[in-house]
Amino acid sequence: MSADVNGMFDRIAPTYDALNRVLSLGIDQSWRRRAVLALGEVRGRAVLDLCAGTLDLSRLAQARGAEVVASDFAQHMLERGRTKLKTSIPLVRADAQRLPFADGVFSGALCGFGLRNLDDPLAGLREMRRVLAPGGRLVVLDFFRPRRALTRAVQVIYNRKVLPLVGGLISGDASAYRYLARSIERFATREEAETLARQAGFDNVRGIDLTVGVAALLIAEVKS
Ligand SMILES: C[S@@+](CC[C@H](N)C(=O)[O-])C[C@H]1O[C@@H](n2cnc3c(N)ncnc32)[C@H](O)[C@@H]1O
Repeated sequence: MSADVNGMFDRIAPTYDALNRVLSLGIDQSWRRRAVLALGEVRGRAVLDLCAGTLDLSRLAQARGAEVVASDFAQHMLERGRTKLKTSIPLVRADAQRLPFADGVFSGALCGFGLRNLDDPLAGLREMRRVLAPGGRLVVLDFFRPRRALTRAVQVIYNRKVLPLVGGLISGDASAYRYLARSIERFATREEAETLARQAGFDNVRGIDLTVGVAALLIAEVKS
């Protein structure tokens, strides 16, 4: 399963950014800015961008002065992002469920639209908890399964019709965008993900809905 997802992201890497802008009408970048702001003060601090993809969150965190390390298992996604950065950062190819970092080395961690792709999101959250230092903060940005019936209905129509059609036209890979749609429909609600974060050992777990719950932030901290 992980290998299929890895291969799929490597395939769609060339059109990933353009499609994000088109499919979200540009709103995705404002969600990413909110996610980085939710980390708090990051100047001079070590921040892990997990499931970093084409490095949009890395770039924003770097612009706020963070010392960013980006990790993802899809090499082509990381390569696409490289040119966005002011200065180069470590790009670490790794599975988010088995991170090659020592305990407690990061002050902050970001995971944008990655958690729902993991075979075992709890294992991923445990790894994020492990690599964060006491007082560290995790911000997850994702499309959680909406709780509100209206948001859910709109999202199902959008995911089943618009996403494969537009995604297929631009990337030439409709099946990848059908997969992405299904991954949203079977993912946890934000509240369920908050419960997972507590199970993973995080404290002070809370969530913020973005754009009437289409996307959301999950914020979780490691006790100092
Ligand atoms: C939808 S993209 C999000 C990329 C980026 N964070 C953003 O905000 O656009 C999801 C990323 O998660 C990565 N990914 C999925 N499962 C992973 C895993 N088990 N380990 C590492 N990376 C993974 C994919 O390769 C892909 O780059």
